[in-house]
Amino acid sequence: MGRADPRLRARLGRFFSPGSLLGPPTTRQLLAIYREYGLDPRSAHPRLFETETLAHMRQDQVQALFRAMGMSGAHRVLSLGEGNGAVSRVLAKTVGCRVTGVDFNARLVASARSLAKVHGVAGRVEYLVQDVGALSLGARRFDRVYAQETMCHWPDKEGALRRVLERLAPGAMVGIHDWLRGDRGGLDEGLRRLPALARLYPRGIWFQYRLEELCGLLERLGLEVVLAEDLTDAVDEGLRKSLAFIAAVSRVTTDRARAAARAFRAVLPAHYSYLRYGRVVARRRRWPSLSASYSRRP
Ligand SMILES: C[S@@+](CC[C@H](N)C(=O)[O-])C[C@H]1O[C@@H](n2cnc3c(N)ncnc32)[C@H](O)[C@@H]1O
Repeated sequence: MGRADPRLRARLGRFFSPGSLLGPPTTRQLLAIYREYGLDPRSAHPRLFETETLAHMRQDQVQALFRAMGMSGAHRVLSLGEGNGAVSRVLAKTVGCRVTGVDFNARLVASARSLAKVHGVAGRVEYLVQDVGALSLGARRFDRVYAQETMCHWPDKEGALRRVLERLAPGAMVGIHDWLRGDRGGLDEGLRRLPALARLYPRGIWFQYRLEELCGLLERLGLEVVLAEDLTDAVDEGLRKSLAFIAAVSRVTTDRARAAARAFRAVLPAHYSYLRYGRVVARRRRWPSLSASYSRRP
């Protein structure tokens, strides 16, 4: 696909940077939260993930994705759009694999690197400032690749995935959690109709697919889709639980917590109509499928 348009990059950077209104907490804010609530950052306590991540999926859902991908400690894993490293830290702690995470937001990557030390996983994770559309990974090869709530921001998903597939061994698994189009359209349409959400979310950063489109893309790229499911009910319920948790920690991060709670409340009415969530797991075929090789003939 090539590098993302600089305006898109800037919008995403403002939206997701650590300490920004809707971005993840900074390392300093997190250290205060761990202290205040007696959370051991070296543990795999789900509250850590829910406090740190930029995602709407909760830790149990992320771990379900990893199980569906058959992750094992021996695997080399690539993470696309890794953000501040919350997802790879869970993977490194609970499964023990080695993870390479890429994200084009240098501030998120800096956070990921410092939090890896705090969480005691620095030996198992590495983070690179890179655009998924222009990856430069040297001789690295991977057995597993995941994209956790990031593909909805890639205008050219096919171009990016084509390059990624060159890095995967035959039989490798691809796991995706993503924000999908809703029944009435995508979030740009939703922002026109939901003023509370439009005050918080920018336009022009949403390139959502439907679940079937995502599966179709993976099949076209020669992957075999082994699982595809809509997770909207589960994420909707999870966000409502997170609202309750944010109320509980608001003593430490008052402004941030209030902003996060406002964002969750504002996004709930978009669920189903303009935003669904999905999980897809696919396997790279050991041999190119007959249809793929046939279609390449002149
Ligand atoms: C919603 S956040 C999810 C972060 C992380 N995967 C998680 O679940 O906590 C989306 C992430 O995708 C990254 N991203 C979007 N487009 C990208 C691109 N073209 N190249 C690299 N990273 C990108 C953003 O910087 C952001 O960190």
